[in-house]
Amino acid sequence: MPRIAYVNGRYVNHGEAGVHIEDRGYQFADGVYEVCEVRHGVIVDLTRHLDRLDRSLSEIRIKPPMARAALVQVIREVLRRNRVRNGLFYLQVTRGAARRDHVFPAADTPATLVATAKSTNPEIIAAKNANGIKAITLPDNRWERVDVKTVGLLPNVLARQQAKEAGAQEAIYIDRDGMVTEGAATNVWIVDKEGLLVTRPADPGILRGITRTTLMDVADKLGVRIVERRFSREEMLEAREVFVTAATSICFPVVEIDGHTVANGHPGEVSRSIRQAFFDIAEKTAI
Ligand code: PDD
Repeated sequence: MPRIAYVNGRYVNHGEAGVHIEDRGYQFADGVYEVCEVRHGVIVDLTRHLDRLDRSLSEIRIKPPMARAALVQVIREVLRRNRVRNGLFYLQVTRGAARRDHVFPAADTPATLVATAKSTNPEIIAAKNANGIKAITLPDNRWERVDVKTVGLLPNVLARQQAKEAGAQEAIYIDRDGMVTEGAATNVWIVDKEGLLVTRPADPGILRGITRTTLMDVADKLGVRIVERRFSREEMLEAREVFVTAATSICFPVVEIDGHTVANGHPGEVSRSIRQAFFDIAEKTAI
C-alpha cells in the first residue's frame, strides 16, 4: 500500500511529496511541528496537541494555516489513507516559501502545511518497556525557547546520534547548574529517595510535553504525588526510578545512564503502573 502525505491542500504519494526549495522551514527552520500518537484506532490527546500547535504558531507569529475543524479532517484523512491504527501522525507548519530573506515574507505568503502518518511496531515499544532503555547525559546547548516546538532540532539530532554511538537510546540534557532539563525528544522523570515522582517545572528550559501533562492526570487518578522541582544529574543517578515520556513512547523506563545502573537495573513499578493506566485516562478521538 503506498504511503500518502498531505502537502498544502493535496494528498500525494509520500515518495514524491515535497515543498519548494525556498520553503522557510527548509532554509531557516522557520516552522513548528507536532507528533501525536494513534493507538487502537483512536487519536490520543488530540486537543492538547492542537492547543500546543496553536501556541507554538503564535509564539513565532505564524497564522494558523486553517481552522481547527479542517485540520482535524486532514489528520483523519491522512490516517485513513495510510491505514494507521497504531502509530503516529506528524504535522509541520512553516512560514511558507519566499525568496530567501531573514525577515518575514509578505503577509499574504501562505504558510506551508504538511501532514504525514506512519504505523509503528508495537513489539519494539513493548521490548523497550520490558527491558528499559539506556541514556547518556550531555550539556544542554540549545537556545532559550525550547518551550516552543520548532523544527530547529539540530542540537537534538546531534545528541541522539551521540547517544546511539554510545549504545544508548536517549540523551538527557544537563543545564549550566548541573540540573536535568529534558531528553533530546522526551521529558524526564525520577522517583526520588522519598518515593515522590519528580519532574522539572515547565519553565522555558523544557518543552511542556503533552504526555507529561496527561501523565499528571494519570498520577492524580492513581494517587501518586508529583512534585515539580529541578533535580541534578547526581540525584537522577541515585533515584529509585528514572523514566522518559513522549507521544512516541509514552513512558520508557531508563535503566542505565552514562554506564551507571539505575536502582536494580530493571524497570520500576511507578512507570509500569502509569503506563498501564495512561490510555484509559488520555483523551481519545475517533479517526
Ligand atoms: N518530541 N521534549 C522534547 C525536546 C521533545 O522533542 C518531545 C517530543 C518531548 C515530549 O513531548 P510530548 O509528550 O508532547 O510528545 C519533550 C517528539 C515526539 C518528536 O520530536 O518526535
